[in-house]
Amino acid sequence: MKILVTGGAGYIGSHMCAELLRTGHEVVVVDNFSNGTQGALDGVKKITGVEFPFYRADVCDSPTVEEIMEAQKVECVIHFAGLKAVGESVAKPLEYYENNLNSTMAVCRAMRNQGVSRLIFSSSAATYRSDNPMPLTESSALGATNPYGWTKIMCEQILRDFCVGEPEFSVVLLRYFNAVGAHESGLIGDCPAGIPNNLMPFISQTAHGLHKELKIFGNDYDTPDGTCIRDYIHITDLIDGHVRAIDFSAKNKGCEVFNLGTGRGFSVLEMVDAFEKTNGIKLPYSIAPRRPGDIATIYANPEKAQKMLGFTAKKSLEDMCRDTWKFQSNM
Ligand code: UFG
Repeated sequence: MKILVTGGAGYIGSHMCAELLRTGHEVVVVDNFSNGTQGALDGVKKITGVEFPFYRADVCDSPTVEEIMEAQKVECVIHFAGLKAVGESVAKPLEYYENNLNSTMAVCRAMRNQGVSRLIFSSSAATYRSDNPMPLTESSALGATNPYGWTKIMCEQILRDFCVGEPEFSVVLLRYFNAVGAHESGLIGDCPAGIPNNLMPFISQTAHGLHKELKIFGNDYDTPDGTCIRDYIHITDLIDGHVRAIDFSAKNKGCEVFNLGTGRGFSVLEMVDAFEKTNGIKLPYSIAPRRPGDIATIYANPEKAQKMLGFTAKKSLEDMCRDTWKFQSNM
């Protein structure tokens, strides 16, 4: 099958392309390199040995997206492109609403006009209210604490409404928990521009000597060791969830939402400890004040994806730490 991957030069998008090409699908990538890189596309080519069409374009530009769909005759779209930094979204809300909503609507418009009816959408656990009981199920209350999360809630709503108006459509909304790790080859991975906001890239860059130390944001939370707990999911497992969502979209019309997490939470200190033990590295760190907006504990109830997609995360914490370091130490 030929699949359009928006944001295919980014962290998750590049791993998706590698897996689709490995399993014999064709991919067409659109990316404006706002976060994605040529290096990620080169990595995908190296891993798979396959050339694929790439368009450097902004997905908000609906006519261009439509031209690409018309020229390439894709059957399915995976829409990863979007702005994703929580802190930046607080400082630049208009950019986030404009970009994430317009790109999603542009993709839908182009799909409708070109008769492409299957869409997989990158959503986030950031769509859940911060006062929900854990674990989070897909019916936990929605409500974000930052503009980034609100853009995902709004895009989900747009897509639900779109499916009502276009009954031939199939949209799968995937709410990611904390994606970490890298391709087993070490050739692609999470490579954020500038100083990383997220824990794992900051840990691996610190281990590589790019930062003096990791600052752990708060050790006075109501958790066993006082540091925040998150549901870290290996990128390979996350991609497997997408592959299953693609199959699901072939058999089901309408809009369906799934959590993609492991169902198991680890604290920041447990992540540091696992990284040190797995890779035999001592990581310099200190305790810093809490980061505004963080909540103590977030983890998924993954049962719906288990039941309806046959999805189970298989990779261990050690796999996450080893593969993250393999990628970072290659750079
Ligand atoms: N942390 C540190 N030091 C750092 C970076 C992070 O202590 O330098 C801590 C954070 O305080 C938090 C944990 O590590 O407790 C995880 O932080 P991340 O920034 O890696 O991830 P978040 O859980 O804050 O956010 C991630 C994604 C969001 C997504 C959200 C969904 O970045 O896009 O998960 O739950 F919305």
